[in-house]
Amino acid sequence: RRERSAAGNASIKLIVLIWLTLQNSVHTLLLRYSRARDVPEMFFSSVAVFFTEIAKIIICLYMVMIEEHGIFGCIDAIKKQLLGQPWDTLKVCIPAMLYTIQNNLFYLAASHLEAATFMIVSQLKIFATALFSVILLQRYLAKAQWFSLAVLFIGVSLVQLQTGGGSKKLSGDENPVIGFTAACVACAISGFAGVYFEKILKGSAPVSIWMRNVQMGVFSIPASFAAVMIQDGSAIASKGFLYGFDFVVWATVLWYGIGGLSVAVCIKYADNIAKNFATSVAIILATVGSIHLFGFAPNLLFTVGASLVIFSIFLYSSSAAFLKCFGSG
Ligand code: C5P
Repeated sequence: RRERSAAGNASIKLIVLIWLTLQNSVHTLLLRYSRARDVPEMFFSSVAVFFTEIAKIIICLYMVMIEEHGIFGCIDAIKKQLLGQPWDTLKVCIPAMLYTIQNNLFYLAASHLEAATFMIVSQLKIFATALFSVILLQRYLAKAQWFSLAVLFIGVSLVQLQTGGGSKKLSGDENPVIGFTAACVACAISGFAGVYFEKILKGSAPVSIWMRNVQMGVFSIPASFAAVMIQDGSAIASKGFLYGFDFVVWATVLWYGIGGLSVAVCIKYADNIAKNFATSVAIILATVGSIHLFGFAPNLLFTVGASLVIFSIFLYSSSAAFLKCFGSG
């Protein structure tokens, strides 16, 4: 029976990873489409992030309602979890705040770095995630696995050079040192927040991911609203909160929210390192999709990069299987 449950877990893990890969690919294409369109009114990205948080909490409340068999059960469970255990709620506040800071730092970095540099530096989160998995979760990574992460980093960077290179050049107001520092800190935060959330989810308290995300929303909604006011407050005062919002932007917001929750599900059933592999493959799939949708021509850089990413997955998972069989950790 144990063997059957292990096989069941492995297939859930695989399904979740494939879902995240497809979800992320469509998300990247949607984002590219929403930016590439020739629209006179460009929406505020901070407002989009705020509505993403709202979308996530609505979905999670609905899921808690299903879990608790109705609206009254849902209200009871939330009261018990949020108000009855303030320390536990405060614990969840840490990744919620960190994710908000991370989102804004990536935004800052993107405006101070060339697109290609930004994309490559932001892949450093692959190493941050692995490092924090070792430190906080006492996970053992064999040398071959560290090597495969380096291969993944190089591969995904090459793929991104093909898609993002040259689309934004520095104009003079930008400060690459600020951009580089912001991106590095954001990567460290991304690694830490993800692994910390994994520790909470897989810890002893039997709290569902939906309830955990409701707890996170309590902090991230006000925090993202504050970010809207700080970043775009004065422009919003003249143009309006929903400036530039149309069907495509709403669809992107909803899909981004589903993406955040897919990350949470992936962290629960697989782990943060596997999540980074899935999102890297998504970058390749999105590029392949762009060939058809936006007429991208894949070059040698893309082919080499994509091959390296696929190779790194085999290397990582075969060394994991090797460790499991002949276990040194
Ligand atoms: O780049 P990274 O993998 O760190 O991004 C994770 C994303 O997933 C963030 O945008 C975060 O808001 C979202 N997330 C979420 N709920 C979780 C964990 C992550 O919405 N429980």
